[in-house]
Amino acid sequence: MKKDLGAKTLVYPTPVLVISTYDNEGNPNAMTVAWGGICCSSPPCVTISVRKATYTYGNLMAKKAFVMNIPSANYIQEADYFGIESGKKENKFAKTGLTPVKSELVDAPYIREFPINLECKIIQVHELGLHTQFIGEVLNVKMDETIQEKGDQAVIEQVKPLLFAPDSRDYYGIGEQIGQAFSIGKEIG
Ligand SMILES: Cc1cc2nc3c(=O)[nH]c(=O)nc-3n(C[C@H](O)[C@H](O)[C@H](O)COP(=O)(O)O)c2cc1C
Repeated sequence: MKKDLGAKTLVYPTPVLVISTYDNEGNPNAMTVAWGGICCSSPPCVTISVRKATYTYGNLMAKKAFVMNIPSANYIQEADYFGIESGKKENKFAKTGLTPVKSELVDAPYIREFPINLECKIIQVHELGLHTQFIGEVLNVKMDETIQEKGDQAVIEQVKPLLFAPDSRDYYGIGEQIGQAFSIGKEIG
């Protein structure tokens, strides 16, 4: 038997992403987004959904660019802070001590301390309702030099990304590897 929960965005888990932008004066800002992810493989594109009330919304519309930063679980406090305070009132980079670095490709900064940074040019904007969806074409990905792509440990285990549960609003870390995709299913036949 099943029970009906009604119309909700109950998708488990969502990623925890930090979107960094510049405002019109060139001040860097960062906000946390859990409504986002991959939306096209070729051209490589990612999606984020942002409310108009945020400072980031104006920056996205003005600059047509953002960096999608993947925070490591070591930075859980900073990632949460970026999702609580607004750049309208606070200089969030000064408060956290994290470092905005100007992208050479798009008019947005990336966060040096976060292990992966996707430099994105906005190619589509969709008004959906409470949220506006921004589609960013990924022009480049930066990754910490210390992360080994062919090491003993998988990249995801080195990055230690955060996961988000939308109903309880809890953060989770990743678990262990439990199977190989496009492979384990073949055992069925
Ligand atoms: C875990 C988490 C996920 C969030 N996801 C989103 C989201 O997907 N879209 C959104 O508009 N706001 C989201 N928020 C809220 C914004 O990050 C928050 O309103 C922030 O203060 C906006 O910053 P800004 O005004 O400096 O742009 C999230 C907050 C947290 C803590």
